[in-house]
Amino acid sequence: MTGVLTDRFGRVHNYLRISVTDRCNLRCLYCMPEEGVEFADPSSLLTFDEIEDVVRTAASLGIARLRITGGEPLVRKGLDELVARLAAIPGIEEISLTTNGLLLKDQAEALRRAGVSRVNISLDTLDPARFRMIARRGDLRRVFEGIEAAARAGFDPIKLNCVLLRGVNEDEIVSFLRLARDEPLHVRFIEYMPIGHADEQWKNYYLPLTRVLELAREAGFELEPGGRTAGNGPSDNYRIKGGKGSIGLIHPVSDHFCKNCNRLRLTADGHLKPCLYWVDELYVRPAVGDPEAMRRLFLRAMAIKPENHEMAAKLADEAQSHVPTERRMSQI
Ligand code: GTP
Ligand code: 5AD
Ligand code: SF4
Repeated sequence: MTGVLTDRFGRVHNYLRISVTDRCNLRCLYCMPEEGVEFADPSSLLTFDEIEDVVRTAASLGIARLRITGGEPLVRKGLDELVARLAAIPGIEEISLTTNGLLLKDQAEALRRAGVSRVNISLDTLDPARFRMIARRGDLRRVFEGIEAAARAGFDPIKLNCVLLRGVNEDEIVSFLRLARDEPLHVRFIEYMPIGHADEQWKNYYLPLTRVLELAREAGFELEPGGRTAGNGPSDNYRIKGGKGSIGLIHPVSDHFCKNCNRLRLTADGHLKPCLYWVDELYVRPAVGDPEAMRRLFLRAMAIKPENHEMAAKLADEAQSHVPTERRMSQI
């Protein structure tokens, strides 16, 4: 069935990101306002039965890889049960997870046994006080414990996602490079994206990733393109010469990777989104239990998928050609 989900630009889609909740136990400043957002009514969340139904059709159309996301996916009760059900669907080859790590210590083993093979964990700072400033809640120590538990449970590779914020964690770039050199971890630096945000905040904090390469050179790290690349995402990867780990650069704003886009998203409240950035979405609930209707929805998503986003235009205050989503990252 490979290739059924091909869009107008010839991009083949085999990867579905499934948000299982819009709730989160942190309030990271690049993702949610401090006071939180209005969370979806629990009755609007897709049930495990409904998610399984969507994935069955998706798999029959060539979706082979799933990523479980949120909000914070580990706050959804019984996540390991959902993973086991999705892993059993014919055609599903890989299930990965993106988490903030806070609840991972207690769930890593069960998720691994249920069928998650890889985890990506958010880690924007190595400093506990700064963690409180960026994440506004939680405790960095629990994230470290989550990372250790993930390693013990056998997830491989373990990727750390570090969203760079100008004037906030910029001074930790070299510490993160050292971490990737000294530990078998894949540290990914990510450009802050203007999604569901006040544009002013984004412009204040946005830092292009060229800064990482400059600092790596100045600090004497020798980077070689390549390295541990297990993944379906947009990261450019580098080995650190003589090091145990590696780094990745994800630069959606300064150099977008949309020409290789292979992904669709399913929001926790049941909307299929062809693109992270734009407003367009298709409501799947009416098609649950009707594989032909579900198939049509997926094909429609291909028909309306845009060529790319226009995040960079926001830096120059240029008009957008279409309507950006009002959802926040936590709601996608
Ligand atoms: P793997 O490569 O499979 O490990 O996953 P991934 O990197 O796609 O997943 P992850 O959830 O860890 O996402 C990391 C970052 O990639 C996010 O913070 C986003 O900045 C960026 N990203 C993920 N998906 C998209 C997308 O569809 N469009 C854009 N523009 N950026 C994305
Ligand atoms: N820009 C870039 N990355 C973001 N994330 C959340 N919000 C943003 C944003 N505005 C990251 C999280 C997580 C990943 C799924 O997305 O840190 O690692
Ligand atoms: Fe794909 Fe849209 Fe993300 Fe570009 S912004 S990589 S088109 S989902």
